[in-house]
Amino acid sequence: MKFSKDFVFGAATAAYQCEGETRTHGKGKVAWDDYLEKGNFQADKASDFYHQYPVDLHLAKQFGINALRISIAWSRIFPYGEGVLNQEGVDFYHHVFRQCQKEGIEPYVTLHHFDTPLALHERGDFLNRETIDAFVKYAAFCFKEYKDEVSYWFTFNEVWPIATNQYIEGVFPPCITYDISKAISSMHGMMVAHAKAVNIFKSCGYKGQIGIIHSLETKYPYDPTNTDDIRAAKKDDILANQFLLDATLLGYYSEETLHTINELLDLNHGSFHYDKRDIAEMKEAANQIDYLGMNYYQSNFVRYYDGENEIVHNGTGEKGTKKFKLKGVGERVIKDGIPTTDWDWLIYPQGMYDMLMRISKQYAFTKGIYITENGLGKKESMSDYHIVDDESRIDYIAKHLTWLLKAINEGVCVKGYFVWSLMDVFSWSNGYNKRYGLFYTDYPTQKRYPKASAYWYKRVIKNREI
Ligand code: BG6
Repeated sequence: MKFSKDFVFGAATAAYQCEGETRTHGKGKVAWDDYLEKGNFQADKASDFYHQYPVDLHLAKQFGINALRISIAWSRIFPYGEGVLNQEGVDFYHHVFRQCQKEGIEPYVTLHHFDTPLALHERGDFLNRETIDAFVKYAAFCFKEYKDEVSYWFTFNEVWPIATNQYIEGVFPPCITYDISKAISSMHGMMVAHAKAVNIFKSCGYKGQIGIIHSLETKYPYDPTNTDDIRAAKKDDILANQFLLDATLLGYYSEETLHTINELLDLNHGSFHYDKRDIAEMKEAANQIDYLGMNYYQSNFVRYYDGENEIVHNGTGEKGTKKFKLKGVGERVIKDGIPTTDWDWLIYPQGMYDMLMRISKQYAFTKGIYITENGLGKKESMSDYHIVDDESRIDYIAKHLTWLLKAINEGVCVKGYFVWSLMDVFSWSNGYNKRYGLFYTDYPTQKRYPKASAYWYKRVIKNREI
């Protein structure tokens, strides 16, 4: 079986990770700017997309990639999140979109990719209703401004990773740990902001389409015959996947979801309150979204765990250093026979298939799913002859595409697939030695070189088969 002619093969990027010029050209600060200043790496130059987008778009076209996920940096448009407008930032994205048109590349545009403007971040980010209102105004501005250039929108990228990294794992600013209450409330805040933005988009009658991107990881019981492990996997799933799938596809939280979330919050002396009007907005948006974006990298095997919280982030690529034990949820463990990346991410392509089948069965969702990110992060270097032989990345992508095709053949409506990432970009809590690109970014010259995977992907796109 082949991929159909209209199946979209693309690649993905995100503003803060590739643009550079993070504090110049009128752009307002984001929390990352100050946070990174205290560490070993900065994003001030990143992959220099701000200057090199014509090169990247041209390379993409040469390699048959005709869809590119990019994100708009909110603080490049509104430096303080709301109010003052930075015309230079507005123009920059016009230039990018026009260049896309010139190269025949369809932009798929995300409005929020981990980069709330600092002024709003400092006042509580999405725990504060003011951020929701500001986001909706920013979204409405972009819809109108870019209506003739952008047809495919996503409101947020990865609501759960934002919440867990900010408030549970503590690796994204403000670096708070084990506060499940804040994580849940911030996810709800983002889902309300998403819903309001979708409803405005639809009420204005723009010709384009809109959805949201979630990072989904299938949760399997470590021992499928052990009821405690089964329960732990279910809880982890509800927290990281189902809470958001309910909000996005149903427009409300199911009883099962609320029951588990409240149990977890009781255990952590927390609570979750929301307004009934939020649910009305969310239901309206659930009926109106055009597609779901799914980022998929890994799945988890979860074991019953009764001890204290203990989460250790592997940000160096030193295998075996990651730990995830969350009180009242479970422990994510490596399982014999299942390979992992150097960052301890389980490589389990079947998890993508299982998640796609689950969404289509549990939610009867038939509108269409895009795999908006999938790829392999690894340490790489380039030979003297500018060759980067990334066979393991080719193998990773090929296996995921094989399972994806199986899901399509079994009736799941998947419209496209985007490799993360087009070129090597800055990786949030891992710096620059975790590379994902189809194109090698030679820091600090920032020149691009196609890796073996770029040539391989070009053949896949041309032949519509793996
Ligand atoms: C997703 C994000 O979480 O995964 C990207 O949308 C991110 O922004 C990618 O870079 C890979 O994660 P990491 O932490 O390895 O860079």
